[in-house]
Amino acid sequence: MLEVKDLTVRYGAITALAGVDLTVAEGEFVVLLGRNGAGKSSLLKAIVGQVPCQGRIFFEGRELSSLPPWRRVKMGLCLVPEGRHVFGSLTVKENLELGGFVSPKELARRLEEVYTLFPVLKERQDLPAGTLSGGEQQMLAIARALMARPRLLLLDEPSMGLAPKVVQEIYATLAALKGKLTVLLVEQNAKKALQLADRGYLLENGRLVATWQGEEIQETFIQQVYLGK
Ligand SMILES: Nc1ncnc2c1ncn2[C@@H]1O[C@H](COP(=O)(O)OP(=O)(O)OP(=O)(O)O)[C@@H](O)[C@H]1O
Ligand SMILES: [Mg+2]
Repeated sequence: MLEVKDLTVRYGAITALAGVDLTVAEGEFVVLLGRNGAGKSSLLKAIVGQVPCQGRIFFEGRELSSLPPWRRVKMGLCLVPEGRHVFGSLTVKENLELGGFVSPKELARRLEEVYTLFPVLKERQDLPAGTLSGGEQQMLAIARALMARPRLLLLDEPSMGLAPKVVQEIYATLAALKGKLTVLLVEQNAKKALQLADRGYLLENGRLVATWQGEEIQETFIQQVYLGK
């Protein structure tokens, strides 16, 4: 479904990603791990067209390089960005409506779908998003992405800065989404992410240094992530 080939991202003199190859097949739940500054967000941003890159990215066989971000959203690619970035002065509902901008006719139905998944958002639909807790804002950011009915959902560190109980809730939601849509999840929280993942990649200094798949022992992979063994 997604094929990234020899991807390089540079910010001036800084090389954030160097020659990365990565694939995600339809229905898979793939996790991308790496320490601070490894290049994880740069990879997701390149896929959705938010940063310039070299190399090739194919989504469902179509090369993306010439397509602006909104066209990629229309094709079914949607990013839940690091740090959530909800619009604090807009209401919860208005944030969700923005997420559904690509299909205005479907808005009401999709709102009901995401409210079913996140009842707390329905309760708070008329409040400014800035008044929500960090966990609720993360739920709103995920729900906003789901409003676009993505085929591939890209998630950038959804557990960052949240209390363990809230992380638990976010992961319960991700578990519910698993199998229903294809997911590429970026995390530093390796244990939680690997419990859900079909496959894993490890990025270090802009390069892929390890992969983990299916039945392989997770412990080995986790050791690589934390201890560099
Ligand atoms: N807009 C930018 N301008 C200059 N350098 C940048 C920019 N964005 C990222 N970088 C640099 O590129 C490298 C990769 O950053 P990136 O944000 O992709 O890493 P990350 O793995 O997502 O890190 P984190 O876990 O902290 O979110 C880092 O060295 C970072 O400082
Ligand atoms: Mg990041």
